[in-house]
Amino acid sequence: MNSVTDGKVLLLYTTREGQTRKIMQRIKATIEQQAATDLIELLPDTKVDLTNYKAVILGSSIRYGAYSKVMKKFIDDNYATLNQLPSAFFGVNVVARKPHKNSPETNLYTKKFLASIKWHPTMAAVFAGALYYPQYNWLDRNMIRFIMWLGKGDTDVTKPMIEFTDWQKVDQFAEKFKAIM
Ligand SMILES: Cc1cc2nc3c(=O)[nH]c(=O)nc-3n(C[C@H](O)[C@H](O)[C@H](O)COP(=O)(O)O)c2cc1C
Repeated sequence: MNSVTDGKVLLLYTTREGQTRKIMQRIKATIEQQAATDLIELLPDTKVDLTNYKAVILGSSIRYGAYSKVMKKFIDDNYATLNQLPSAFFGVNVVARKPHKNSPETNLYTKKFLASIKWHPTMAAVFAGALYYPQYNWLDRNMIRFIMWLGKGDTDVTKPMIEFTDWQKVDQFAEKFKAIM
C-alpha cells in the first residue's frame, strides 16, 4: 500500500447534542468523494490508532467556555503523530454566529485552544452550532438563554432547534481539506 495515496481519513469528534456530529457527517460526504473515512465519536475510553490514517480531522464543541477535555487529552497524547499528517481542527460554538467571531483568529475559545496545544493543524476553522432549548435541563436552558440575551440572540426557548451553522462554509472547508490530504 502506498501510504501517501491510499489509507483512510479519520473524522474524530466530540459532541453533546449532536451538532458537531452533524457537521462531521456533512464533511464526510465531501471527503468520501476521494477517500474512505472512519467517522468516530471520541469518548473517554475510545482507542484510535492514528498510524492507520493518511489524514485526520478533529472537531469539538464549546460548553461553558471550554472545548472537550477528552479531545484536549487526545491531542496532548497524540500531537507528535498528528503533526506528521495533513490535519484539521474545527470548533463549534454559538458565538461564531457573529461574522467577526467566526475564524480561528477571532473566535477567542478557538484561538486560546489552538495556543494551548502542541498540535499545529494544517487547517483550522470555526463553525456556528445550534441550540436545542427544549432538550436542555432547566439550569442550562436559562443560562444559555441569558447568554443569548446578552449577545442580542434568539431567546425563544419554545423553538425545538435554532441552527446557526453555515453549511456552505462547512462544504468549502471540506473541499479545501480534500485538496491537501
Ligand atoms: C450547556 C451549554 C453551554 C454552552 N456554552 C457555550 C459557550 O460558553 N459559548 C458558546 O459560544 N456556545 C456555548 N454553547 C453552545 C454550543 O457550543 C452549541 O450548542 C453547539 O452546537 C454544541 O455542539 P454539540 O451538540 O456538538 O455539543 C453551549 C451550549 C450548551 C447546551
